[in-house]
Amino acid sequence: AKARMEKIKPYARPVFLEPAEGLTRTYPKDTMIFCENMPGEELFVIQKGSVRITKIVNDREVLLAVLKPGDIFGEMALLENKPRSASAIAHEDCTLLVVNKANFERMVSTQPQLIAKLTTLLAERIWFLYKQLANTLLANPVARLYDGMLIHLEKLRVSIRDGSAYTFDFGPRELVNMVGLPQEKGLRAFQEILSSKFIRVLDDRIVVSDVAELEKQAKSYR
Ligand code: CMP
Repeated sequence: AKARMEKIKPYARPVFLEPAEGLTRTYPKDTMIFCENMPGEELFVIQKGSVRITKIVNDREVLLAVLKPGDIFGEMALLENKPRSASAIAHEDCTLLVVNKANFERMVSTQPQLIAKLTTLLAERIWFLYKQLANTLLANPVARLYDGMLIHLEKLRVSIRDGSAYTFDFGPRELVNMVGLPQEKGLRAFQEILSSKFIRVLDDRIVVSDVAELEKQAKSYR
């Protein structure tokens, strides 16, 4: 298990690029799309690749989400006239549709269903944040890790059936980061989890061979 853990690398430092003009922009892996606290007047729709959203909390970079094609981000600064609440970094090479305020208003006037879509997206985000908040109240780090995995399954609406397997698109380091544990303490707790037979790590991804067992464990720790 230790050798497996050592292969897991921390994030690369993001590279900054000059933003190009145009309706779509492409960003190579690990480039900064925008920085926390900067002013911003564009929202983005992911067309290809993935984007990670991170925030500096107590001098630590915390991973808030990894967003996928079809997901929208950057809407908060656009809708609220506030600085960026978090940073967005290309997690893989990605292509983004860029929508500025004028275009956004035009799109909403011709496609009012966009507002409903955005409301659903924000409601889902609130649900997730609420779960994450409850997660940080769990004192036991092992409990937090189990619960963190379960929250992701719920978010993705993975059906919990006995014996069914699931591969997360993140590894132990990201999980530790997402549940807000200090790295060392979190990775130590993850070692403990690895002794259970239904969880292992393959290519820096957490693999659960029985999601029903995961749910049982998560509940027993609460
Ligand atoms: P904005 O504040 O404009 O810039 C940062 C963006 O990250 C924000 O809009 C949201 O789109 C996105 N974001 C912020 N917090 C979260 C979160 N907890 N989960 C997913 N996306 C988020």
